[in-house]
Amino acid sequence: MPPAHPTRSPTTALIAALPEELDALLSTLEGARPEPLASRTFWRGTLAGQPVLAVLSGVGKVAAALTTTLLVSHFGATRVLFVGVAGGIGAGVQVGDIVVADALLQHDMDASPLFPRHEVPLTGLSRFPADAGFTDAVQRASIATLQAHREVAAFVGRTPRVHRGLVLSGDRFVATAAESTALRERLPDALAVEMEGAAVAQVCHAFGVPLAVVRSISDRADDAAHLDFPAFLRQVAGPLGREIVQRVMQA
Ligand code: ADE
Repeated sequence: MPPAHPTRSPTTALIAALPEELDALLSTLEGARPEPLASRTFWRGTLAGQPVLAVLSGVGKVAAALTTTLLVSHFGATRVLFVGVAGGIGAGVQVGDIVVADALLQHDMDASPLFPRHEVPLTGLSRFPADAGFTDAVQRASIATLQAHREVAAFVGRTPRVHRGLVLSGDRFVATAAESTALRERLPDALAVEMEGAAVAQVCHAFGVPLAVVRSISDRADDAAHLDFPAFLRQVAGPLGREIVQRVMQA
C-alpha cells in the first residue's frame, strides 16, 4: 500500500489528556482551525512558524491509541509530543516535578505465562522507547521552564526537579499506597504512572514516528490527601506544558 502522506511536511502533534491541558496548548497556536473526526476535534495551526496539530486524546490507553493513529495516518503528523500530568512513583519524584519519559510500559499488560509479564504479545517489547533526540530537547525545555517559573516552587512548597526515565501507563488511576508500592516493587526503576503514554508509544513505534512524553507530577499515586487538582492543572500543569511546548518549537 502506498504511504498515505508521500510528501508529508514536518508536522508536530501535541496530545493532551485533559481539557485544561489542551486549552493551555491551544492558547499558543496561531490560526487554529478545528477538524472533527472520530468524536474528537483535531486542531491545525502553527507555532513558532511550524505546522502543529493539537488534540485531546481522551483518558486511557484505547482513547490515546486511536487518537495517535489518526494523528499519524490521517493527519500526517511526523512527530508526537504528549503533554500531561502523572502520579509520582519513584523515590524523590514529588508533586511539581517534571518527568520526561525515555521509555514507556503498560503496567496492566499481562499475557503470562504465554509471554513475559508486561510484554506486548508479538512485539517482543515491554518498554517502548521515546525518541532520544526529541526527548533531549524536551528535557532541556523542561529545565528552562522550571527555572523561569519560580512560582511553581511556591505552589508546591519546594524546588521542583526534572527527572528522566521509565513511565508506566495503565487503565487505572493509581490512588492507594498499596498499589503504588506494588508497582515500585515490580518495576523499581519506574518514575511515574499515568494512563496513556505507553499506548501512544506503541502506536508511534509501529509507525516509526518519533515520540516524546512530558508529565508534571500532580500526586504521589497514594492515599495521601490530594492537593487541589483543578488548581494544579490551572496554575502549574497548564502553564508549564504550554511553555515547554513553546520552547521545544522554538529550539
Ligand atoms: N495521572 C495523574 N495522576 C495519576 C495517577 N495517580 N494514576 C494514574 N494516572 C494519573
